[in-house]
Amino acid sequence: MPKKKILITGASSGIGRATALMLAQKGHDVMMAARRLDRLAHTAVMSPSITGSLSIGAIDLSDPDSIDKFCHQHGEWLSGLDVLINNAGLALGREPFQDSHLSEVQTMIDTNVSGLLRLTHRLLPIMIERERGHIVNLGSVAGREAYAGGTIYCATKAAVHMLSEALRHDLGGTNIRVSIIAPGRVAETEFSEVRFRGDEKLAQSVYEGYRTMNARDIAETIAWVLDRPEHINIQEIVLMPTDQPSATTLKPYRPSAT
Ligand SMILES: NC(=O)c1ccc[n+]([C@@H]2O[C@H](COP(=O)([O-])OP(=O)(O)OC[C@H]3O[C@@H](n4cnc5c(N)ncnc54)[C@H](OP(=O)(O)O)[C@@H]3O)[C@@H](O)[C@H]2O)c1
Repeated sequence: MPKKKILITGASSGIGRATALMLAQKGHDVMMAARRLDRLAHTAVMSPSITGSLSIGAIDLSDPDSIDKFCHQHGEWLSGLDVLINNAGLALGREPFQDSHLSEVQTMIDTNVSGLLRLTHRLLPIMIERERGHIVNLGSVAGREAYAGGTIYCATKAAVHMLSEALRHDLGGTNIRVSIIAPGRVAETEFSEVRFRGDEKLAQSVYEGYRTMNARDIAETIAWVLDRPEHINIQEIVLMPTDQPSATTLKPYRPSAT
């Protein structure tokens, strides 16, 4: 694959970090963005095997000023942008909506939807001007299938799915691709720890007793999507653990004794 300039949000942990590393190992120039700059710096310094490059930038997607500042600060680097991976996102809580905290509801909407849209709106003109580009949005099986205690998270991910589809229409004829990656449960991320507000035991229990996917599985899939020739757009990939038939069902495989 020719060398590309790739911006990935939410690269301080989980899927974003694994994807940034894999793409830099494949020779691409990758900018990792998130709020925790120290984490990004640590990853960039501790990755000697890369053949591309890793840059870092602080961004808080829930804050419009922070997005503007990021785009301004890294304007020169971003002027050659080939790929935007809108990966940053979070779920907060598993309570019924009627018991949820409105500030957390707002944070999910601001980060998962408004921030994604604002950053994409800022960067799309670069791609349109260059007549090439690829936007990869992290959706979720939660955006296709609702579950109890997921009212806002499911709604934000459904929004990501719909806005991605509509964007493909708006961008028709521009040579810009829009892809959605929609995973089921992915372990080795901080997703559950964030959702359960730092309760590590509860977070860990989500991934016990069956075979999950991990962040590298998703990174490999994203790398494959980016590697398709320019005339092919992988519109959507839903990846589930084999032991997770749906958003809400787990069916662990137990090999029969022979
Ligand atoms: N893990 C799963 O089971 C799963 C399943 C389906 C979809 N997903 C989606 O996959 C994506 C990545 O999640 P993950 O599983 O890798 O979880 P994670 O390890 O918690 O990573 C989330 C990333 O988002 C960043 N982030 C959160 N709020 C932000 C903000 N306001 N501004 C900028 N960055 C922000 C975090 O960095 P900072 O805290 O440093 O800002 C972190 O790097 C999310 O969109 C998630 O919804 C995850």
